[in-house]
Amino acid sequence: MIYFLKPSIALLKIMILIKLGGSIITNKEKPLTPNRNSIKKIAASLKNVNEPLVIVHGGGSFGHYWSVKYDMHTKPQRHEAKGVSYVKNSMVELNSIILESFLESGLKPYCLPPSDFMMGDKPLIKKIKEIPKIAKTGLTPISYGDVMWFGKNKFYILSGDRIMGILSKILHPRLAIFVTNVDGVYSDMKSKRLLSEITKEKPVTSEVSMDVTGGMSRKIKEAFNISKNGTNVFFVNGNAPKRITNAINGKSFEGTIFR
Ligand code: IPE
Repeated sequence: MIYFLKPSIALLKIMILIKLGGSIITNKEKPLTPNRNSIKKIAASLKNVNEPLVIVHGGGSFGHYWSVKYDMHTKPQRHEAKGVSYVKNSMVELNSIILESFLESGLKPYCLPPSDFMMGDKPLIKKIKEIPKIAKTGLTPISYGDVMWFGKNKFYILSGDRIMGILSKILHPRLAIFVTNVDGVYSDMKSKRLLSEITKEKPVTSEVSMDVTGGMSRKIKEAFNISKNGTNVFFVNGNAPKRITNAINGKSFEGTIFR
């Protein structure tokens, strides 16, 4: 596939974009509970990667918990100020738990709130193009889904999955990896048959697996669009962090790939 890319684009493919889903970094059943053990194991595994990484994380039982409580959505709306504060504070808290754990594991995390590279709901392309340069210094930029100021007294929820789509479109990472607490995309919830590959010729149907919050279908939509733009996308289970590094190293891969 790489042979068909223009050299200028091929040269840009120096970075790996990883989304740590709320399902793996928090205990989704229990409000405001981080899954410290998973975070630590994933960080230890990422320490072995020798390529620039950019991380995005989700909200799980932190941001999601409050956004549901205050009925906040991805559509810009007027919201109770208290709800905005709760969502924002909880994401900053979860982010600092991850920053600390990454630092303890020997990585050099660099906090990157999405307000650093978004204005309202528009990506700031010049800012985004600087992110891989930060990653190339040995730092690991870590962004996260957040509640965002839209303007006109409105706020909206920007999901980590959407951030993956935005960053991929502008940065063309070598790979985009979605880490969750399931093995990948299932053909349906009953048989739990894992789909190893999803392509334009073999797209997923509406039967496809949904997690309790319906979050999986949103991830699949984002993943499909990212792969359409020429980046291979992997879905892997973060309970087996070796699968993340296997995906990166092109070793025997367990999960779902979109190409
Ligand atoms: C959640 O981001 C953002 C907030 C609710 C503030 P995501 O929607 O990407 O989170 P997960 O990974 O599905 O939990």
